[in-house]
Amino acid sequence: MSIHSSVRKVTTHVLHEMKLKGEKIAMLTGYDFSLARILDQAGVDIILVGDSASNVMAGYETTLPITLDNMIYHAASVVRATSRALVVVDLPFGTYQGNSREALASAIRIMKETGASAVKLEGGQEIIESVERILSAGIPVMGHLGLTPQSIHKFGTYVVRATDDDEAKKLVEDAKKLEATGCFAIVLEKIPANLGEKVSKMLRIPTIGIGAGSSADGQVLVIHDMLGITQEFSPRFLRRYHNLNAEITGAVKAYIEDVRSGDFPNEREQY
Ligand code: KIV
Repeated sequence: MSIHSSVRKVTTHVLHEMKLKGEKIAMLTGYDFSLARILDQAGVDIILVGDSASNVMAGYETTLPITLDNMIYHAASVVRATSRALVVVDLPFGTYQGNSREALASAIRIMKETGASAVKLEGGQEIIESVERILSAGIPVMGHLGLTPQSIHKFGTYVVRATDDDEAKKLVEDAKKLEATGCFAIVLEKIPANLGEKVSKMLRIPTIGIGAGSSADGQVLVIHDMLGITQEFSPRFLRRYHNLNAEITGAVKAYIEDVRSGDFPNEREQY
C-alpha cells in the first residue's frame, strides 16, 4: 500500500518515507478555512500558508508587505480546517533575516497562535543562524532556494534563477547546508530542471519544486493560479487545472440578473 493512502496525518517523518519510496509529494498553498478544508479532504500532503497571500489575498504587488499578524490569521484559519495535511507557514519578510532571536520569536508565535506544524524561510547561508535557532526550539523548518520572492528587489525580476555556474554552485552549497543544519525539506523555485534533478538526487530530504522540473520529490503551486482564479500570471511552469475565474464570473452575472429581474428569491426561497 502506498504511504500517502495509508497515513491519517502527514508528518515530516512521513515525507521522508515518501521520498525513500519514490512517492511524489503534493503540496498546494492555502490561506483560508473553506478552501483549506477542500484541499485537506482531497488528500493534498502539505498545505503551505505562503506569503503569496500578500499577492492573491491582499492584492499587493510583492510578498514584502504581509505581516506576521496577517500570516497568523491565515494560518490559524487553515489549521482549523485541516486534519490530515501537514501545515507549513511562511515566515514573512522582515521577521527572521539578520536576527536569529527575532526569527525564533516569530516562529514561536506562529506555532503557539496557529497550531501549524512547521515554518518556511527563504534563503541559504545568509539565514542559517535563524534556521539553527528555530530548529533548536524543536520547530521543523522547510527551506526555500532559487527564486526567493522576498528578495525581489535584489534580483530585480522574477526570471529563472541559477542559470549561471556561480549561482548554481551557491544553490547546491546552500541546499547541502540547509540539509546538514536540519531542515526537513526544501522548496526549489524557478530553476533549471537539470539543477533541480541534481539537488533532488543529492539530498536525503525531499525537495518540493515550483518551476524546478519533474525530478523534484514533490510539486507545489499557488492554489489561486492552478484553479484559474488569477488570470494575469502565466509562467511556463503553471498548469491551470480549471478556469474558476470564468465560472465565478458566470455565476455572479447570473445572480445579478436574477436579482435585477426579481427572479431571485422565488417562492421556495422565502419564509
Ligand atoms: O508563498 C508561496 O506561495 C510560496 C510558494 C510559491 C512556494 O512560497
